[in-house]
Amino acid sequence: MSRTPLIIDCDPGVDDAVALFLAFAAPDVFDLIGITTVAGNVNAELTARNARILRQIAGREDVPVYAGCQRPLVRRPVEADAFHGASGLGDMAVFEPAAPAAAGHAVDFLVQAVMSRPAGSVALAVTGPMTNLAAALALEPRLASHLGQVVAMGGARSEGGNITASAEYNIYADPHAAQVVFEACRDVVVLGLDATHQVRATDDRLAAIAAIPRPAAKAAAELLVFANRVERELVGGTASPLHDPCTIAYLLAPQLFTTRPCRLSVETASPLTLGHTAVEFRLKSPDEANALWVSAVDAQGVFDLLTERLARL
Ligand code: RIB
Ligand code: CA
Repeated sequence: MSRTPLIIDCDPGVDDAVALFLAFAAPDVFDLIGITTVAGNVNAELTARNARILRQIAGREDVPVYAGCQRPLVRRPVEADAFHGASGLGDMAVFEPAAPAAAGHAVDFLVQAVMSRPAGSVALAVTGPMTNLAAALALEPRLASHLGQVVAMGGARSEGGNITASAEYNIYADPHAAQVVFEACRDVVVLGLDATHQVRATDDRLAAIAAIPRPAAKAAAELLVFANRVERELVGGTASPLHDPCTIAYLLAPQLFTTRPCRLSVETASPLTLGHTAVEFRLKSPDEANALWVSAVDAQGVFDLLTERLARL
């Protein structure tokens, strides 16, 4: 079976890290043509360094890392270091990676990598603020129709927000970029908090990953232990939601997810609800839909997939 060319646009980030490990562990499925990083959870210099650290741990320095946008399109930057640690990788021992980032900007890479391949062939997973993708769409508007499957972690409907009462972090961190993306692209599979809050790193699931005697699995377990500690201390929960890995799990096993066509709009004007995602299922015609909202997830299936794949890395 031919492999899917895949780009991951991310802001590692504890859960971005586990998403990258899952993608690194599926070379039989993905031709991982590049990782693009963006300012988000921590600043752009750190997210680029962190992606290089993670690919070194996974032994996948064949995958180029392109550093991207350093700030949102319009609003002031807002980071999430309370949830990801000052380094962006929790309390993992960070280091200067051996292999450098690729030359060139992530936005230029996104345009070149997609437009130089057959229409619809390159899949894109977005696990951070959508600044790079929005800038790429401004640079090359034909990108929207040339991209293959786009899967994004972001937004919330019934779950409310996780950075404000009404907004999820990735959208809140760059709502104008999200607005550009959802107005330009169609059929984006959107994993909002409604989906990712169903996928929790419970102790038994964490133990299964921690038992794998492989560097990436050990790193993933360490990151999830950190995430669970933050969940307890900041949220009052017990098991942290596995946000970003769900994008890669969807591309590997879409049968684990239930989707529903919707019209997704982003609030960009209200100080009170900035970054809110209005997810409308009542469509006058199918053409109105711009996204597929994930409403249900087989959480154990996702963890079984993650555990099985990490054991191979
Ligand atoms: O709201 C969860 C999202 O915000 C995840 O992508 C996490 O990495 C943070 O960026
Ligand atoms: Ca992220």
